[in-house]
Amino acid sequence: MSSITFSLRNQALPVVIMSRRLSSSWFANVEMGPPDAILGITEAYKKDDNPKKVNLGVGAYRNDQGKPHVLPCVIKAEEKLSQLNLDKEYLPISGLADFTSSAAKLAFGEKSQVIVQKLNSTVQGISGTGSLTIGAYFLRDFHQGPKDIYQPTPTWGNHVPIFKRAGFNVKQYRYYDPKTCGFDFSGALQDIAKIPEKSIILLHACAHNPTGVDPKLDQWKEMSALIKSRNLFPFFDMAYQGFATGDIDRDAAAVRQFIDDGHQMVLSQSFAKNMGLYGERAGAFTVVGSSQEEAARIIEKEQAKEISPNDDDDQQQLRVLSVD
Ligand SMILES: Cc1ncc(COP(=O)(O)O)c(C=O)c1O
Repeated sequence: MSSITFSLRNQALPVVIMSRRLSSSWFANVEMGPPDAILGITEAYKKDDNPKKVNLGVGAYRNDQGKPHVLPCVIKAEEKLSQLNLDKEYLPISGLADFTSSAAKLAFGEKSQVIVQKLNSTVQGISGTGSLTIGAYFLRDFHQGPKDIYQPTPTWGNHVPIFKRAGFNVKQYRYYDPKTCGFDFSGALQDIAKIPEKSIILLHACAHNPTGVDPKLDQWKEMSALIKSRNLFPFFDMAYQGFATGDIDRDAAAVRQFIDDGHQMVLSQSFAKNMGLYGERAGAFTVVGSSQEEAARIIEKEQAKEISPNDDDDQQQLRVLSVD
């Protein structure tokens, strides 16, 4: 910005003139978005002076004083790592191997055929959001079916733009029943039965956001059979493993059931909530291939520069997740 002062009617007035370069903008068309409802709750919380207030905005661990809480296991892992004097060299594009293999084992189980037969191609992503985005771009390039993704109603707000930006038509299937405040099982089955073959279906692995309502294991089994018979492709989003039942294996039951039922799938994982690593952005994206050889070809594509953001990931936090 350049500033000049000149005299007007004999009075020296400071007049700031924007330089010609900034007088018009390429981005004048950028509109202000609507206020974020969740952050709005946090703002209201900050202004409230009631000593018993509870922040129901962003869900993050807090101590008894309402302050952020870092999990003791994370602090321990960080202490261990700091003694190792690790370097800051670039990681391979697929990420830190100890981390990606631990993430896959956590999701599928160490004894899963996916792990034993090395069917997974797992890359690190920038938390759940970045991992979903890698998945959306991977499927944009390689999914052999309609570019339609069916999402539960309602779903986490960012699911819609992530897939729209990757060129998908975002459609819905019934999920939550406001009358019972529960899972609309028959509505979901009816809608899934009408989804055109080879479309993609998005499934929240556990602790569905925003409703907190999950299918029971028997219901998952029926959904799995229907999804298989309709020849649909499952995209699991697991952002809360351990949060629904307190047990990481039970929370992975739907993912593991689908594997046992012979589905191929893609899976995004977030460690923001279950490790309390919100801002550190630790996540993983997995494609389950039909053979080890296919998995090797897939990981090569997942590492393509245009879909893998991993060069910028935070190595320290990924190492925290792979410390024993
Ligand atoms: C269902 C679901 N998926 C993915 C995410 C991604 O979270 P993050 O990018 O913070 O890991 C969230 C976060 O709220 C979520 O609720």
